[in-house]
Amino acid sequence: MARPLTPRDRTTRRLVLHPFRRRDAEPLVAAVHDSIEDLARWLPWAHQGYGRSDAIRFIRDSTAAWTEGRAYDFAIEPATRPKSHLGNVSVWHTSRREQAGEIGYWIRSTLTGTGIGTEAAARVMQVAFEELELHRVTLRIATGNTASERIAEKLGFVREGLLRKEVLVAGHWLDHSLWAILDEEFRANCSRYAAEGWIGDRR
Ligand SMILES: CC(C)(COP(=O)(O)OP(=O)(O)OC[C@H]1O[C@@H](n2cnc3c(N)ncnc32)[C@H](O)[C@@H]1OP(=O)(O)O)[C@@H](O)C(=O)NCCC(=O)NCCS
Repeated sequence: MARPLTPRDRTTRRLVLHPFRRRDAEPLVAAVHDSIEDLARWLPWAHQGYGRSDAIRFIRDSTAAWTEGRAYDFAIEPATRPKSHLGNVSVWHTSRREQAGEIGYWIRSTLTGTGIGTEAAARVMQVAFEELELHRVTLRIATGNTASERIAEKLGFVREGLLRKEVLVAGHWLDHSLWAILDEEFRANCSRYAAEGWIGDRR
């Protein structure tokens, strides 16, 4: 199995993405509380009573997944104001043989609509293609989540189809559209991502 990624910060023009640490628990809970209506609508783990024990469990699982090279979760912070939690962005392997992975994200509700989701997702795509050397990255978006669809479009993902009743959220099975981007498509878009300040520290 390939070695896990180095647990260092990844940066963009406005953001720092860092691997989760125990001290992120409180800022994470605060960001989830600020966003719970939006998160609970689309994401299965989000619930009204989300608290410190949920955050500590998430950080423990996230650290284990990173060490085992399975998945890489990042806390998103503003470059100018560390310790303020803007949201999460992740990339994980779905098939080693096919060099395939998936990304996911959420952004604190008070800061949505300012491009943070697009920027963080682009940076984690750079991790996927340049560091993990993936060939194909997917994104699943619940039907009706137009803001997330817009992120996929802006980043150059291609909508490939519909996954019926794919995820159970608050007792309801939600259809999801399946989006994907290939390594050559990512590379063709890199100068645009760089001009926007969405990717950084090339390696
Ligand atoms: C979806 C989400 C990540 C978007 O984050 P964000 O930081 O606001 O994203 P950005 O600002 O980079 O881009 C959002 C785009 O959607 C557009 N948008 C927002 N709400 C919209 C709506 N209701 N209808 C259509 N477009 C919408 C914005 O105008 C923007 O597009 P533009 O740049 O062309 O103007 C955020 O709303 C979120 O975390 N939602 C809850 C969790 C979630 O859905 N996660 C994704 C699961 S796939």
